[in-house]
Amino acid sequence: MFGIQRVTIDYLEHPVGILGSPQFAWSMESDRKNVTQSAYRLQIAKDGDFSRPVYDSKKRETDQSAQIQAEGFVMEPLTGYQVRVKAWDNQGEESPWSSPAEFVSALQAPGQWKGSFIGVETAADEKISKGTYIRGTFRVEKPVRNAYMVSTALGLYHPFLNGEPVGDDEMAPGWTSYGNRILYQTHEVTDLLVWGENVLGAHLGAGWYKGTIGLDKGKNNYGTETAFLAQILIRYQDGTEETIVTDESFKGCDSPVIFSEIYDGEIYDARKEQPGWNKPGFDDTSWLPVHTVQQPKDVLAPQGGCKVRELIPLPAREIIITPQGDTVLDFGQNLTGWVHVKVDGKEGQEMILNHFEVLDARGNVYTENLRTAKETLTYICGGKGEAIYRPSFTFQGFRYIRVAAYPGEVKKENFTAWAVHSDMRDTGHFFCSNPLLNQLQHNISWGLKGNFLDIPTDCPQRDERLGWTGDAQIFCRTATFLKDTYTFFSKWLKDVAADQAPNGAVPHVVPDILTNRSDDDWLVGEGNSMGATAWGDVAVIAPWTLYLSYGDRRIIEEQYDSMKGWVDFMNDHAEDYVWKFARQFGDWVALDAEAGSYFGATPEDMICTAYFAYSTGLFVKMARAVGRTEDAKKYQALYDAVADSYRRHFIKDGHMTARTQTAQIITLYFGLAKEKDRASIMRDLLELLAEHDGHLVTGFVGTPYFCHALSQNGHTKEAYELLLKEDFPSWLYQVKMGATTVWEHWDGLKPDGTMWSADMNSFNHYAYGAIGEWLYRVVAGIEADENAPGYKHTVFQPQTGGGLTEVKGSYDSVYGTVGCSWRAEADRIVLKVQVPVNTTATIVLEKGALPEEGDVKFTCRDGIYQASVGSGTYTAAYRRTGVLL
Ligand code: BGC
Repeated sequence: MFGIQRVTIDYLEHPVGILGSPQFAWSMESDRKNVTQSAYRLQIAKDGDFSRPVYDSKKRETDQSAQIQAEGFVMEPLTGYQVRVKAWDNQGEESPWSSPAEFVSALQAPGQWKGSFIGVETAADEKISKGTYIRGTFRVEKPVRNAYMVSTALGLYHPFLNGEPVGDDEMAPGWTSYGNRILYQTHEVTDLLVWGENVLGAHLGAGWYKGTIGLDKGKNNYGTETAFLAQILIRYQDGTEETIVTDESFKGCDSPVIFSEIYDGEIYDARKEQPGWNKPGFDDTSWLPVHTVQQPKDVLAPQGGCKVRELIPLPAREIIITPQGDTVLDFGQNLTGWVHVKVDGKEGQEMILNHFEVLDARGNVYTENLRTAKETLTYICGGKGEAIYRPSFTFQGFRYIRVAAYPGEVKKENFTAWAVHSDMRDTGHFFCSNPLLNQLQHNISWGLKGNFLDIPTDCPQRDERLGWTGDAQIFCRTATFLKDTYTFFSKWLKDVAADQAPNGAVPHVVPDILTNRSDDDWLVGEGNSMGATAWGDVAVIAPWTLYLSYGDRRIIEEQYDSMKGWVDFMNDHAEDYVWKFARQFGDWVALDAEAGSYFGATPEDMICTAYFAYSTGLFVKMARAVGRTEDAKKYQALYDAVADSYRRHFIKDGHMTARTQTAQIITLYFGLAKEKDRASIMRDLLELLAEHDGHLVTGFVGTPYFCHALSQNGHTKEAYELLLKEDFPSWLYQVKMGATTVWEHWDGLKPDGTMWSADMNSFNHYAYGAIGEWLYRVVAGIEADENAPGYKHTVFQPQTGGGLTEVKGSYDSVYGTVGCSWRAEADRIVLKVQVPVNTTATIVLEKGALPEEGDVKFTCRDGIYQASVGSGTYTAAYRRTGVLL
C-alpha cells in the first residue's frame, strides 16, 4: 500500500484567496519501510474536470514533495481549482491519485478592483466607535454558474448576502500595517445568490483601524472613518459575467452597536435593531446615502487562510457568589474571545458583563490588572422575546465574567464562552507521565490560542494587546511545534518588514502603533519605540524558525532585505562590534532586577552583542541556503568579528564578566564561548543555579534557553530538576497555583493569594511558555536538521530523566507525522520513533545508553550510539548505564 495522505496549497488545506504561484506539498503513507518518492505527477483542473487539466506536470523524477511549483500555471482571478497528485516510490509502487484538494484564486492584480470603499460615517463620528450598516441591491436574472466575492474594510466588518453571513471570519480584515497592507477576504457565494433582487450588506465597526489602540490610548491611528469595499464576480451559465461593486448607490445607517472598542467592549442596543436590514424587500428609504472613502487599492493583498474564527466553545462551569456579593461565571479556562448569551428582558432592561482573569485572595472580582481596559459588554433589551447576543467588534481576555446586571435569573446554560483565534492546524502533541507537565503543556497551548488572534500579541486582556516583537521571537519555535504557523508568521513578518525603519530598526511592536504616538510613555516615548535587542531579532529568528520547520526558502527570499536591514542596523550602531541603541529591555522582568525595576541584572551591551552574533550567524546560514554567496561570506566575517569582540569584552579568564544566570545561558546556547571556556561557564551557571536552590531568576532573554543551555552541556539532570521545580519561581509553581495559561510574572499570584503589581500583571502571556520547545526537542527528542530542514531528515535524541516513565511526542510536519515516544522501565528505555515516507532520520541515544539487539542497528561513535533509518516505525530498547551526564 502506497498512497498520498494530504495535499496542501501554501501549507493550507482549502485556501480561498491565493495569489501568484502557489506551492504544493503532499505527505504519503506506506506499509513498508525505507520508502522515498522517486517521481510524482501533479494535475490542476477547473470544475473538477481532470480529463482536461489546466496544468499537468507529467511524471517528474524527483524526491521533492514539498515546495512544488507548477511552472507555467497562471491563475485566473476568482476561480476554483482542484489539484491532485500521484507518486511513485523507490520500491516500484505507484500510488493512486490523491483525493482532490481545492483552492480558490484571489484577484491577481490591483487593477482588477472595480469598486469603491464606501462609508456612512460623518466628520462628527470621528471620535465615536459605533457600528454602521451598509446595504446595496442588485438583480440576478439568469442561471448562475458560480460567483465569488472579495471584500474588506477600513475598520472591522461582517459581510452578508441576502441576510446570510458571507464566511465565518471574525475580526476581519485583521490587523496589518494598514498604510502599507490591508488584507481582503475571498469567498465563494454561488449558493447565497437568489433569483431577482439580491442584497449585499455589511456591518462595520472601528476596530484597530479607527478605535483606541496603543500605549497612548490614541484613536484614529489609521483613519477617521470606517468603510466597506466589496466586489462580486458572477459567472452566468450562458457564459457571460457581471461584476457587482460597492459604490455610491449603496445606503447606510447606524447599527444597534452604539459603542465597540477592542479594549473596552461593546454596548448593543437591541431597540435599534432593524429586522431584515440585509435582506431583499427591506424598506431603506430612511437610510442615508453612502459616500466614497479615499483609500489606495494597491495596498490590498489577499488573505488565503489562517483566518480568525470562533473555534472552541466553553460552557460556563460554575456560578460563584463572591464574598462581596457579585454573581460570577467561571468558564474554567483563561481564554480570549467572547461569550454568547441568551437574554430575554423588557424593553430597556440591561445586561452588563465584566470580563476578568482571576479572583483575588478573598475570592472577589479582580480587574485592576486590566488597567484601563473595561472588557465590558452591555446589552439593552429590545423587549421582543429571547435573543442570543454576542459582540461583533471586540474581544476579551477572561476566565470569569461578573454578571453586573441581567434580566431574570442567571443560569449557567445561558452563557457559552468561545475561544477566538487564528485558525491553524494542530501539529504538535505532547503527553507524559507527569500530570503537572501535561497541564503546563495545556497552558502553553492556551497561551498560543489566547494570543494568536491575527497577530502575535503579548497579552489579550489589559489595555495593550500589541504585537510585541520580543514575545513573538521567544515563543516562535514553540508555537511552530504546536500549530501550523507558516501562514500566520509569514503574514506578520511582512508587516515587520513594512514597519521597519529605513535604517533597519525593527519596531518594538508590529503593527507599529508606538512610533510618533507614545511621546509621553516612560518606556517607549521619545524615540524609544524601536531597535531593541531580542525584540528586533524576530526579523531574523522567526524566518529562520520557519525555514527550519518547513524547509521553505521562500520565507528567506521574502524577508531577506528585512533580515539584512536588522543586522546592518546593529552593525551601524556598534563600536568594536558591541552595539547599543536607545531603549533596551534587557532581560525583561528577570527576578535578578533591582527592586521595583523591570530590567534584569544582565548588562544590556552583553545581551545586545550576543544577539548581534546569533542573528548574524543565522543570517549567514540563510544567505547560503538561497545561494547569496557574497553576502554569506561578508556576514560570516561580520559574525566572526562580533563573536570575537563578545569574547574579548565579556569573557575574562574563562568567566563571564556578569555573574547572572542569563549571561551564562546566552553565551552557552548561542555558542559564543571558546571550547576551553565552556566548562567553566557551565560550572558558573550551576553555581548560580545552586545559589537560588536550583531556581531560575531569569527573564525574557534567559528563560527560553535555560534548559537547553544545561542539556546541551551534559546537565540534562539539572535541566529536568529546574523544569520540575514546584515552588516559586518556576513553571510548575503557576500550574500548582491553578493557572490555565502562562503568566507574565513568575509570581503573578503569590502563595498567599496576593498579586504582583497590577500595572503589569497578565495571566495570559505566552513568553515563558517558550519552554514548550524543550519538551518537544529534548524530552520527546524531536529535532529538525538544519541541513535537511522541514524534517526531511529528523534527529531523534530524547533525553530521559525527571522521573518520567512515559513520554509521547509528535509533530505533524509537511511530510507527515514525525513521532518519538519512550517508556522507562527502571533503567531500561523502550523507544519508538515514526519517520514519515520520503524522509530519513538519525536516532541518537543519550549518553551512557547501551542498546539491546533489535531491528535498529546502532553503531557507536565517541561513546554515543546512533542509527540511521528510513521511513517507517521503529522500536528500540536500551539500558541507561551509570549516572547520566
Ligand atoms: C509587554 C511585554 C513586552 C514588554 C516590552 C510589556 O508591556 O507586555 O510582553 O515585551 O512590554 O518591554
